[in-house]
Amino acid sequence: MTTTTTTTAAPAETVLDARGVTMRFGGLTAVKNVDLTVRSGEIVGLIGPNGAGKTTFFNCLTGLYIPTEGEVRYKGTVLPPKSFKVTSAGIARTFQNIRLFNNMTVLENVLVGRHTRTKEGLWSALLRLPGFHKEEAASREKAMELLEFIGLAHKAEHLARNLPYGEQRKLEIARALASDPGLILLDEPTAGMNPQETRAAEELIFAIRDKGIAVLVIEHDMRFIFNLCDRVACLVQGEKLIEGTAGEVQSDERVVAAYLGEPFEGAPGAEEVAEVEAAEAHAEEDHEAEAPADTPADDTPADDDTPAADSTTSTTTDGEAK
Ligand SMILES: Nc1ncnc2c1ncn2[C@@H]1O[C@H](COP(=O)(O)OP(=O)(O)OP(=O)(O)O)[C@@H](O)[C@H]1O
Ligand SMILES: [Mg+2]
Repeated sequence: MTTTTTTTAAPAETVLDARGVTMRFGGLTAVKNVDLTVRSGEIVGLIGPNGAGKTTFFNCLTGLYIPTEGEVRYKGTVLPPKSFKVTSAGIARTFQNIRLFNNMTVLENVLVGRHTRTKEGLWSALLRLPGFHKEEAASREKAMELLEFIGLAHKAEHLARNLPYGEQRKLEIARALASDPGLILLDEPTAGMNPQETRAAEELIFAIRDKGIAVLVIEHDMRFIFNLCDRVACLVQGEKLIEGTAGEVQSDERVVAAYLGEPFEGAPGAEEVAEVEAAEAHAEEDHEAEAPADTPADDTPADDDTPAADSTTSTTTDGEAK
């Protein structure tokens, strides 16, 4: 009997499976019935205008918020609604507003990210038992490897607060990687970076994927997203408008309209917009009827609240390390 060996790649495992995730804050539905999967080996992008619900969705995935409805599974298991348990399960994240320990060194910040993977407990650390020293040495070695990987090993002993902004963002990634995740969630990793730093971040994310870690990334920089991602999902007013390849999403006129703030047929919230417009038109008619004949026709105020297509600026100033 002859045996044939097939070289077909194993089907990609579903790493993250979010189904029907809804998050309400009082009367506001920030995330509405969102489904999203991330498979092993993938880089998936999450885009959408400011306030679309992207960060809230991340918070629902990572146990920071308990979704009002829906379920989140990591490698087939429903995630417990506690951040540290989600990290232990294998999901790591970075924050839109950098969260580092300012007065700790770069190396210490990475070591903090490692604690979910160390067996020695608090007493062992406090009493400096032999097991603690052995494990501490192993953790330091691992942390230094990560600093090499992100290119910050030469600054291991610097205080985190003294790093330039772009390096603080990289350090946050290193700290997230220290928990040995199977999936990393990055919330605007290039906000505040210059073009060179952004390109380097792109390479870093490819390298993270090549280590076997799936990536879900939020960004406003469309060039970055479309270069990087295998799939992109766009949220608008809490709802998933479209999900597809970079090409599909890029050419979808609804995505362009959402970013430019232009309404389109069937858009989430379109009914409310239509009502407001009708009321405004009505008010204008009344005003015209009352106004003297020489009132200029073009005195309508400019529509200056249209969000810019590239809205990174909204997040570039709030990233002070806390
Ligand atoms: N804890 C909260 N309590 C009440 N409302 C909240 C809370 N967190 C977020 N929201 C609201 O939910 C909506 C979505 O916010 P979110 O921060 O998720 O948007 P985003 O897509 O991340 O925006 P950006 O691109 O500006 O970061 C906004 O209207 C926001 O004000
Ligand atoms: Mg956000």
